[in-house]
Amino acid sequence: MSDASIIEVHGRRVWDSRGRPTVEVEVKLSNGAGGRAIAPAGASTGSGEALDLRDGGTAFGGLDVKNSLAKVNGEIAKALEGLDASDQTAIDATLVELDGTPNRGRLGGNAIVATSLAVLHAAAAASRQPLWSYLSEGRPVRLPLPEIQIFGGGAHAARRVDVQDFMVMCPAASSFTEALEWTAEVYRAAGALMKRAGKLQGVADEGGYWPAFDCNEDALDTLMEAIAETGLQPGKHVGISLDIAASEFGRDGQYTLALDSRTLDTDQMISMLGRWLETYPIYSIEDPVAEDDPEGFRNFTQAYGSRCQIIGDDFLVTDAARVQAAAANGSLNAVLIKPNQAGTVTETLNALKAGKAAGFGTIVSARSGESEDVSIAHLSIGWDAGQLKVGSFSRSERMAKWNEVLRIEESLGARAQFSGWSALPFTPASK
Ligand code: PGA
Ligand code: ZN
Repeated sequence: MSDASIIEVHGRRVWDSRGRPTVEVEVKLSNGAGGRAIAPAGASTGSGEALDLRDGGTAFGGLDVKNSLAKVNGEIAKALEGLDASDQTAIDATLVELDGTPNRGRLGGNAIVATSLAVLHAAAAASRQPLWSYLSEGRPVRLPLPEIQIFGGGAHAARRVDVQDFMVMCPAASSFTEALEWTAEVYRAAGALMKRAGKLQGVADEGGYWPAFDCNEDALDTLMEAIAETGLQPGKHVGISLDIAASEFGRDGQYTLALDSRTLDTDQMISMLGRWLETYPIYSIEDPVAEDDPEGFRNFTQAYGSRCQIIGDDFLVTDAARVQAAAANGSLNAVLIKPNQAGTVTETLNALKAGKAAGFGTIVSARSGESEDVSIAHLSIGWDAGQLKVGSFSRSERMAKWNEVLRIEESLGARAQFSGWSALPFTPASK
């Protein structure tokens, strides 16, 4: 029995930021160390994601996780007990094999990701290192460039606007701390603007202001105004980042923008986004077309990939093979990295490595359903992803991640290096 062998795996039901049930797993090792992790949950999920197993029925809207928890406390615990927690690859291979399905549908992606991450935390604790440091294995790391939501939308705001995330990025900041300071000013200014306009109606699922706009471009104009009000310059200090999440309103090459009362084909969708790129200082666009539109991704990237980060989320679902295929045919230049899309820590890391090998931007990301779990802050730093997307700048399930990065930045002292522009897969004209 190794020092770090697993002696206990325990699953319990906890509740996420939307008040929905989710899976927490706690792992204990023979040497007294332990680790814990909570599964997040998406709302705008890609069809290729690991399955978030829910019980169905009437309780909690069918979203209970008793089946997943039974798997954790039964089969999973039995299979992992006695294994060496420091061999994450073997742990994850065991989980994948035990599940036996292509989409983690038997044990549940939620059970698997929480278990895989809990083992990782336990192994880091056993090595007496913070998780980010354990993961970095002594290699240099950068503090991530944050992508922070100002207005929510899409599935996170009852489809009040079509575009899902209106975000800012501050690659010109000199540190992670400064990037947060600039963002905090923009977030405040946007709130004040909405209030003055009589449009302040609370926040959406990820803490961004509720999008009370007349059309999608109104949100962009308001964001520009908010940036300008802070005294920071749009396009110099602060750039815009959009998650179109187009799979939510597009299928078979037809995109229905409900707020704008029009339906666009793929070419028209690409032209509209191209116009936005001409008009606004947009540094990053995620899922500009739907997951069933590979040709659209390719055309968009061919047209704009040299001046903008183009991220695959629903299209790539944190899958190394999909990342490699996209890189081979020039379909994207960045990949969103969500552990619960992949299932296990090892598969998540493989997707990230495939992205880095392709010269892609790599963005570790939260989900719209989150918790106090800050694992992703550590993954983004320990794996030197370069970027981190967590949602907005309010609500503690979001702030917990930003605050954790601040603690790590402080602990690094003079060694702290902010990724800034180096995280993005293009060179802006203004630089
Ligand atoms: P989700 O949204 O967590 O609801 O899937 C996040 C995203 O699309 O990036
Ligand atoms: Zn997305």
